Amino acid sequence: MAGITAGVATSHVPAIGAALDNGKAGDPYWAPLFAGYEVSKRWIAEAKPDVVILVYNDHASAFSLELIPTFAIGCAEQFAPADEGWGPRPVPAVQGHPQLAWHLAEKLILDEFDMTIVNAMDVDHGLTVPLSLMFGQPAEWPCKVIPLAVNVVQYPPPTGHRCWKLGQAIRRAVESFPEDLKVVVFGTGGMSHQLQGPRAGLINAEFDNAFMDRLIGDPEGQAAAPHIDYVREAGSEGIELVMWLIMRGALDERVRVVHRFYHVPASNTAVGHLILENAGS
Ligand code: DHB
Ligand code: FE
Repeated sequence: MAGITAGVATSHVPAIGAALDNGKAGDPYWAPLFAGYEVSKRWIAEAKPDVVILVYNDHASAFSLELIPTFAIGCAEQFAPADEGWGPRPVPAVQGHPQLAWHLAEKLILDEFDMTIVNAMDVDHGLTVPLSLMFGQPAEWPCKVIPLAVNVVQYPPPTGHRCWKLGQAIRRAVESFPEDLKVVVFGTGGMSHQLQGPRAGLINAEFDNAFMDRLIGDPEGQAAAPHIDYVREAGSEGIELVMWLIMRGALDERVRVVHRFYHVPASNTAVGHLILENAGS
């Protein structure tokens, strides 16, 4: 049977991708950030997932304001890097896992999560930057990836509680897939950041670290937090953090913290990163 062994949370700042793609990862500004992912690259090379379910948000790259799915699952064979205005990132196309993706779509919809089924989609920095941070710059990504896009761009995004419940449903769905597959769930976005308006540049390290503490030790409590808490404390784009709750909902009640990293600044954003392994319920 398939099973989820671990979860990874990470910010997905586009400038991180640009730093890698343009050979600037060793610059003094970026080196401390990438140093925080060295452990992670070693961990995932050992963990060798067959499939990553990658929870992220599209930033008006694949979906415009004409069509805004709350939760969308990528069922295609392949997903190309999106052109976000300066050409697609020079990273490999993402290979999907249509059999598992369709199984997830079926189980989740019958479990009353109304997923949008996506058969063709380009994937933006929200998905490709976490892959680069975890896998470096390989010629091909070393595992299959199922994109799971969440609307956090246009109000109203789903609640943290709905995201937490979706994570639990994803776990049930994965565990009913008959093939032996090792699955890791990524939750991306955050941490505190605001890209526009009078509070642009807002960073709240205290909130970010408390969020990570609660995600680890009291995720259900964190899931009860309303949107306004994220927006007030973590800025308008801090709402991306609800996606971390999908990852956490897919794990055991108790988790082992393999790695925890927090770094400011990266572009306008505080970068947070966790690797959590299941430790029992
Ligand atoms: C930035 C961060 C994001 O999460 C994003 O989607 C776009 C930009 C930034 O800090 O520049
Ligand atoms: Fe983002």
